[in-house]
Amino acid sequence: MAMTVTSLHPHIGAEIGGLDLREPIDAAGVQAIWQAIDAHAVLVFHDQRLSDEELRRFAYRFGELEIGRSAARPGRRRLEFPEIGDISNLDEDNRVRARDDRRRLDSLGNRLWHTDASYMPVPVVLGMLFAVTVPPASPFGAGETEFADMRAAYDSLSDAQKAVVDDLVVEHDVFWSRGQIGFTEFPPGEREQYPPSRQRLVRRHPGSGRKGLYLSAHASHIVGWPIPEGRLLLSDLGEHATRREFVYSHNWRIGDLVIWDNRDTMHRGRPHDESQPRDLRRATTLDIGSTLDEAA
Ligand code: OGA
Ligand code: MN
Repeated sequence: MAMTVTSLHPHIGAEIGGLDLREPIDAAGVQAIWQAIDAHAVLVFHDQRLSDEELRRFAYRFGELEIGRSAARPGRRRLEFPEIGDISNLDEDNRVRARDDRRRLDSLGNRLWHTDASYMPVPVVLGMLFAVTVPPASPFGAGETEFADMRAAYDSLSDAQKAVVDDLVVEHDVFWSRGQIGFTEFPPGEREQYPPSRQRLVRRHPGSGRKGLYLSAHASHIVGWPIPEGRLLLSDLGEHATRREFVYSHNWRIGDLVIWDNRDTMHRGRPHDESQPRDLRRATTLDIGSTLDEAA
C-alpha cells in the first residue's frame, strides 16, 4: 500500500498512512519519510504495533541512536535496550513512581518547551515516541505532547529582529533547565558528565533549507551578552515561538508513533492523571556535527 501524507496543521505536522512500521523499509521508503519530515517537521503514524526491538530497528534506518541521560545511569532499568528511552512514569517494576521520586521529578523537565539534548556538544536529530499506555486526563491536561514550529516562528520575525538574532550563539545547560522547576538533586557525577554546550540560535535546516530558531528550556544565556539581557531575549523569543498558531498538539492513542525533528521544532509534555501509568518509548537519532559549524 502506498504511503499517504495528510497535513494536520497550517505550519507543522502531517499524518502518514499506508505503512506498517514492523515491515522492512527500503531506501526509497526511508527517503520518502525524510521528505515528509523535511516538509512537515512532525509526523504521526497511527495504529502501529512495535516492540522495543522493532522500534529500534526502524529508528536505525535514520541514523545512529542516542543513549540518553537516564539510560546511561548505572542500575537496573525497566527497558531492555539502552537506545530505547523510557518516557514513562513507571519504575523498574512497572509501578507508578512515587510523587517525590527523583527520576520522576527530573523527567518533569519535559513539561517545559525544549528541544532534546541541546545541552550536548552535538545534539540529536529525530525523536521517535511510541505510545504503549496512555493516561487519563487531569484538570490541566491529558498527557498531550505539543510541538512548536521554529521555522514559522523565525519567518514571522521582522527583518530587524532577524538581523539581531541571526549570528548569536547560546549556551545550553541541562542544569539550568532543571533548575527552573526547582530540580537540583542530580545523581553524583552528572554535573561533570554533562557540561554546558554552545549552539547557534538560528539554524538552517539541511533538508528544507529553511531557517529556524533553535530554542530550548536548556538555553541558558547568550554568549557575549550580559546574562540577564540574554535570558530575557531568549524568554521573549520562546514566548513568540510557542504562540498557538505555531503549535500542533498531539493527543495520544495507543499505537501512535510520532516522529519530530529536533532541529526545527520545540516540544513539551502536558500534565495528566499521575496516579495512572503513561508509557511512551523513545528512540532518538544523533547528528554528526556541531551547530556552530553550520552555515548561517
Ligand atoms: C521527550 C519528551 C514529552 C512527553 O520524550 O523527549 O519531551 O509528552 N516527551 O512525554
Ligand atoms: Mn523531549
